[in-house]
Amino acid sequence: MAQKVGIDAISFYTPGAFLDLAVLAKARGVEEAKYKVGLGQDKMGIISPSEDIVTMGLEAAYDIVQGQQSAIDLVLFATESGFDFSKAAGIYLHPLLGLNAQCRVLEVKQACYAATGALQLAVQYVSLNPQKKALVISSDIAWYGFKTPGEVTQGAGAIAMIIAANPKVAVVQPGQFYTESIPDFYRPLGSEVPVVDGKLSIRTYRDIFKKVMPNKPYEYICFHQPFATMANKANEVLPYPVAEEFLTESKILGSIVGNIYNGSLFLSLLSVFMHAKKTLRGKTIGMFSYGSGSIGEFFDVTVQNDHEKAIPFSRIRQVLDDRRALSFGEYERWMNEFSTKERQLNYAVDASYISPKQRFYLKSIEQGHRLYVKR
Ligand code: COA
Repeated sequence: MAQKVGIDAISFYTPGAFLDLAVLAKARGVEEAKYKVGLGQDKMGIISPSEDIVTMGLEAAYDIVQGQQSAIDLVLFATESGFDFSKAAGIYLHPLLGLNAQCRVLEVKQACYAATGALQLAVQYVSLNPQKKALVISSDIAWYGFKTPGEVTQGAGAIAMIIAANPKVAVVQPGQFYTESIPDFYRPLGSEVPVVDGKLSIRTYRDIFKKVMPNKPYEYICFHQPFATMANKANEVLPYPVAEEFLTESKILGSIVGNIYNGSLFLSLLSVFMHAKKTLRGKTIGMFSYGSGSIGEFFDVTVQNDHEKAIPFSRIRQVLDDRRALSFGEYERWMNEFSTKERQLNYAVDASYISPKQRFYLKSIEQGHRLYVKR
């Protein structure tokens, strides 16, 4: 690929509330160390009834699309938390971001891999059309249901990336990928939560990683991170494992946000950008994407000199700092409300669920169509 193409800007959003996993451990009669040490997770982001995959995508994308709208003619919205089998979630987001009418907007799905597939397709698209830019959004709500083994590995959040020629954040290289149909995780019609065989999923993740993993040393590799210690389980199969201190930097954000499915790999990249003690300029970071069902892809990103200017760090820190801890009762009430909302064709969001910090919120669902408000 002659043209340098990749991530020109990247940002992140997670809802304004979280559940501390010490609270969940106590309620479920589980040792706190299983969650905090065994799985390496500290907190999980909880979706408010006034938010969904569209509002999270809007919050993530808003800052980085300002001034870029006229160049963006492709939006790929990766999610496995879709609420409509026909209308793409990105179409709801399109007017609220002020995007052009001359813009293709698609929803893409393949478990937690779709964002990586979308990124690679967007890179190829921009390579052919270097004057254009693409917006890739991943937005997901990891909801497994109360008292399930997956309950501790929930979370919610979105990543937005602008893909452009001569990118400011990182050049994205083509990857090695591998697909095999495995029944480890899927969400069939009629099921609000995924059908999961967690142990099979962990085995398949590692098996597929072995098919595409590199045979050379890296200072940093970011892994798809359904829970933090999954990165350790993958790292230990490498011929040249990543040093513990660098792996730790890649897990910090995921451990306080939880699993955000498609965005989880890119949250790990942001974690490195936010916590690396030495400059990353010119460094090549390995990225391993895994989507149950299953696809794995390993690819390199090469960090560019101006990356710090193209990431809204202060906004990301503010989103994280502004979060409030939910009580266990609130968690139950919010997720019961989420579950009710997702089954209704008509629903009005109670004003008590709308925080003044939200720049976008869901107002209502009318005949299955969603109404959003931009403040
Ligand atoms: N102190 C420290 N560690 C403890 C502990 C304690 N008191 N109790 C248990 N642990 C460790 C276990 O040894 C295990 O670590 P190991 O795998 O390195 O041996 C870890 O905590 C998890 O315990 P485990 O009993 O395996 O958990 P589980 O059976 O409840 O399920 C998942 C864990 C991840 C399989 C489950 O949460 C799940 O299905 N999640 C959703 C799917 C998913 O995340 N898939 C991943 C691939 S995409």
